[in-house]
Amino acid sequence: MKVFHHKNELKNHLKTLKKQGKSIGFVPTMGALHQGHLSLVKNSLKDNDITVVSIFVNPTQFDNSDDLKKYPRSFDEDLRLLEDLSPDIIVYYPEALDFYDGKIEREHFDFDGLEIEMEGKHRPGHFDGVGTVVKKLFETVQPDKAYFGEKDFQQLQIIKKLVEKERMPIQIVPVPIYREPDGLAMSSRNLRLTPHHRAAAPFIYQVLKQSSVLFENENIDTVKSFVKNAIGAHPYLELEYFEIADEQSLKPATQKISGNKYRGFIVVYAGDVRLIDNINLS
Ligand code: PAJ
Repeated sequence: MKVFHHKNELKNHLKTLKKQGKSIGFVPTMGALHQGHLSLVKNSLKDNDITVVSIFVNPTQFDNSDDLKKYPRSFDEDLRLLEDLSPDIIVYYPEALDFYDGKIEREHFDFDGLEIEMEGKHRPGHFDGVGTVVKKLFETVQPDKAYFGEKDFQQLQIIKKLVEKERMPIQIVPVPIYREPDGLAMSSRNLRLTPHHRAAAPFIYQVLKQSSVLFENENIDTVKSFVKNAIGAHPYLELEYFEIADEQSLKPATQKISGNKYRGFIVVYAGDVRLIDNINLS
């Protein structure tokens, strides 16, 4: 399997492949790969001649330096998992200084208001960091298609907006949330859960599923109160937010309008681990 550390070497290699008419699929990740990431990679392998996976714990998207320090890293195991899927995958594993040309800074973006809701409110600067790294990755890889998980639904909508605003000819392909058999959305952060918190965490998806049943006949405030009370009563979980928002604008909804599509978005702390999930309510 080919692993590139330097931007220019990767660019040159991909240029040759593109000249041969090969289509390029791209899966950006921060590593500590699990089946959720691998479902994105499998989609890319199916759709494209070449698949590039980047593994880079991007410092500019962490609003909390402790979170950055504690972020799990398992490069050798990541390579093994990718190799098992296909030895032809190209891995990009940059050094921060090479990637950022010596200046580790975030660009500021206007994503037409998508960036001020939910994660934008709770993690200041986060989406500027995501926009900065993904724009640079797209400029380097110049893929035909790029794959993003619905687990980070707000991020997915922001990346769609990024390619639209930057006029990048890249198709953004959404991939459904991949869950553990007990319903917990897979996440690199799950590795950091204590046994008690790991046992508690599937409750988040149980509550989300109940909220989607309630949403059919109840108003938005009732559904929000239900989720707040259910998570609030759990001894090992602490709700940061639950929001019901329009899928396109991500604006919080107060009343259901027929024809609109809604999603429930949740963030819960299980000990010091921040877990994010969402569910389609339409
Ligand atoms: P990371 O958290 O590593 O996730 C990489 C990709 O995998 C994202 O598109 C994310 O939505 C997707 N993903 C993670 N868990 C998933 C699951 N359980 N089911 C489906 N997809 C899942 O998201 C990032 O990294 C970074 O912000 C990045 C886009 C790489 C920019 O640094």
